Amino acid sequence: MRICVIGAGYVGLVSAACFAEMGNQVTCIERDSERFQLLSQGRVPIYEPGLESLIAAHLNNGQLRFTQDFAEGISQAQVIFIAVGTPSGEDGSADLCHVLNVAEELGRHIQSRCLIVDKSTVPVGTGERVAQRINRQLAARDKKFQVNVASNPEFLKEGSALDDFMRPDRVIIGCDDGQDTETLRRLYAPFIRNHERLLCMSVRAAEFTKYAANAFLATKISFINEMAGLCTRLGVDIEEVRRGIGSDKRIGTHFIYAGCGYGGSCFPKDVRALIRTAEQEGIEPGILRAVEARNALQKTLLFQALREHFSGFMQGRVIAIWGLSFKPGTDDLREAPSLVLIDALLAAGVTVKACDPVATSAVAMRYQMELQAGQLSLTDSPYTAAQGADALVLVTEWKQFRQPDFARIRGMMRMPVLFDGRNIYDARQLAELGFLYRGIGRPQLGSCMVSAA
Ligand SMILES: NC(=O)c1ccc[n+]([C@@H]2O[C@H](COP(=O)([O-])OP(=O)(O)OC[C@H]3O[C@@H](n4cnc5c(N)ncnc54)[C@H](O)[C@@H]3O)[C@@H](O)[C@H]2O)c1
Repeated sequence: MRICVIGAGYVGLVSAACFAEMGNQVTCIERDSERFQLLSQGRVPIYEPGLESLIAAHLNNGQLRFTQDFAEGISQAQVIFIAVGTPSGEDGSADLCHVLNVAEELGRHIQSRCLIVDKSTVPVGTGERVAQRINRQLAARDKKFQVNVASNPEFLKEGSALDDFMRPDRVIIGCDDGQDTETLRRLYAPFIRNHERLLCMSVRAAEFTKYAANAFLATKISFINEMAGLCTRLGVDIEEVRRGIGSDKRIGTHFIYAGCGYGGSCFPKDVRALIRTAEQEGIEPGILRAVEARNALQKTLLFQALREHFSGFMQGRVIAIWGLSFKPGTDDLREAPSLVLIDALLAAGVTVKACDPVATSAVAMRYQMELQAGQLSLTDSPYTAAQGADALVLVTEWKQFRQPDFARIRGMMRMPVLFDGRNIYDARQLAELGFLYRGIGRPQLGSCMVSAA
């Protein structure tokens, strides 16, 4: 099929590359000139394992190309995917300006009947708004056809995006027209050969499904984090509780890991947008508000624990942070818990030594002044970060941090203090090595005298 994908971000690039991999002819439109230049040379502006080589391969064999020319980019397409960002607006609702701009452009440039598919996460009713905008323009241009807009929300996870797209748990097709549904069924058939994982529903149901899925996952995380808070008070280890409840099939093992909060480009903004939708509909979103509030609190816990450990004397301390991206496997910093911690530490006069395998350049752009002033240093070596630190904080559980040489690290640090923001370490082992260990919702183990800063 001839496909056009509008927007070369995490979703657009992965979709374009994977459709090309299945033999489709794909054109990807990106309006950002810098991004477009990089992509045209086969260089990918984001970190996503496997993506660069897949894109390079299909640029070379001609299955995939990038353009900035909207009219030319859509000219041959049978199916056009909208994959632009839908960030939070000022009131928390989804800001649809990029999606609606694309709709206007489509209305101005579409020459023949094609199917428009919205892959961006958008509130219920957006498909209808996009269709209205396009068809109004088509009518003004005396075109004798109209286009339909389907919804195909994306469920890929950054860090394993290619695998998620190639082997999806399910593909949601929101489509109110039988022929269009058939087109999308054919397009997705190679991705779901083993099982019938294509779920067809109305456009509005598909739009809502995406929000409900993200809100539910965020709820699981905030629930376990609230339980972790209780565990701390009750002298219970949340890790034992997690195993205890996760073995129940009705609960399951996923998304019940206590930690220092969720971030990223989806959960925070999608929960906020759903709250706004509920408010507009006169429904009190009590659960969603609590999910959001718990997450905001959770992001502050590591700083609170550090301040408590140093009895409030933070000025002049050196703190090492492991992991900056919002989760492992990506360089995405959007709403990352690490940023909340770094901001609080810098404001308290702490020197921060931060380490991440891929996200340091994005962090450097954000903290240029602090880097110049020597208040913050960045490295991709966990050992360099730990050198001379008064405490080490794990924020993002990259594989590189799972089994470091803690005996070596103990000798390098000023004080062997470890705050485990993702509960990935064996507390007893670390205590035996001489560390003071604190996790989230776990009893503190080991001890360490606090020296003067
Ligand atoms: N990132 C994820 O993990 C993820 C997962 C599932 C769903 N989503 C949803 O998918 C959508 C896209 O997310 P993303 O993370 O890929 O966004 P992104 O911000 O990484 O990328 C969007 C891209 O679209 C480009 N763009 C904007 N307007 C354009 C226009 N008029 N023409 C051409 N290009 C344009 C931008 O320059 C940018 O490169 C969002 O609605 C998001 O909620 C994201």
